[in-house]
Amino acid sequence: MTDVAGPWGGLLEAARTYPSPHNSQPIRVRVIDDTTAHVFYDLDRGLPAESFGIPFGHVCAGVFLESLSVVAAAAGYEVREELTLTEMDFDSAERLHPLGTLVLSPRTATPRDAARRAAFDARRTNRRPYDNRAVASGDLAVVAGIAADGGHTFASSQDPAVVAEIIRVNQETLFDDLRNDAVHHEIMTWLRFSDEQARSSGDGLSADAMLMPGRLLRFAMGHRGMWEAPVIGRVIKSVYLRTMRGVAQVAWFEGPFAGPGDYLEAGRLFMRSWLELTARGVALHPLGTVITNPRSHARFVEAAGIAETDGRMAWMLVRLGYAKTPPVAYRRPLEEMIVA
Ligand SMILES: Cc1cc2nc3c(=O)[nH]c(=O)nc-3n(C[C@H](O)[C@H](O)[C@H](O)COP(=O)(O)O)c2cc1C
Repeated sequence: MTDVAGPWGGLLEAARTYPSPHNSQPIRVRVIDDTTAHVFYDLDRGLPAESFGIPFGHVCAGVFLESLSVVAAAAGYEVREELTLTEMDFDSAERLHPLGTLVLSPRTATPRDAARRAAFDARRTNRRPYDNRAVASGDLAVVAGIAADGGHTFASSQDPAVVAEIIRVNQETLFDDLRNDAVHHEIMTWLRFSDEQARSSGDGLSADAMLMPGRLLRFAMGHRGMWEAPVIGRVIKSVYLRTMRGVAQVAWFEGPFAGPGDYLEAGRLFMRSWLELTARGVALHPLGTVITNPRSHARFVEAAGIAETDGRMAWMLVRLGYAKTPPVAYRRPLEEMIVA
């Protein structure tokens, strides 16, 4: 393990499995001393091509800060945050966007902290077929409570017509995103077509994690026009949709989403919710690209009957249910997270 001052080495070693869009792992940390660290967003690992790709940088920062607080709590630390909430400028010459300063102080770990840490270690994105069961209403109510505490709404639908429409929109988002040159280029940067490539880079979306044959994925992504071709397009689409079978329920978060502070809080409560669901054995697959693709977003809010007004937005959509354990997504080693 990298030699990092005080408890930071152990905490960051654990927290580096936080989830990030396209598994790009953009959070970097400069450890100052045993109790203090500066945290940054690495703009070279961001996803600015998509509409709302930039706000999702702060969502990811919130996901990371929640992850760190969970790991720290179980190890007997509280993390105090002094955040610098400014919009990210992806054209900036300075590639590390400062997020703030973190200070550790001792606290007594509780059994609940240990349970949250266990959920953190067990959490994965589950892109497998689900088994047609909807999530128990009591489990959904817990997440609704977490959302409400932050001024957000968590809502779900088991209406087969809504679920089918959202699965369709999600699949068509992939086709639509590929038509946009900048988004296509961005996705290609993060796709890993073989296990060897995924393992050696330690980041990105591997074909295995996406449950797609690597050669088919490489062919499909490299030949965008083929998605529209009658026979091959249908094959690619059906391979993808096979992974989306058995979905009985979709859910979304809606709330204040008008600036970096809102985005970051959204990420924090998304992670908190994901861990609660993991602890209850619920599988989850974020469908974030439906949010970041404007056409798909409009279709989703219409299907779900959501009114977005006064700086509020439906900022996350997920499918959720029960499924077999999915493959693990690789992570970069701790050294890559640490800023010297
Ligand atoms: C804010 C956010 C948005 C995401 N959006 C998507 C998405 O649109 N589609 C998808 O398949 N995975 C999505 N993911 C899941 C990531 O790709 C996943 O977390 C990452 O590849 C690491 O894998 P793991 O969650 O299994 O550890 C998203 C994750 C986060 C945190």
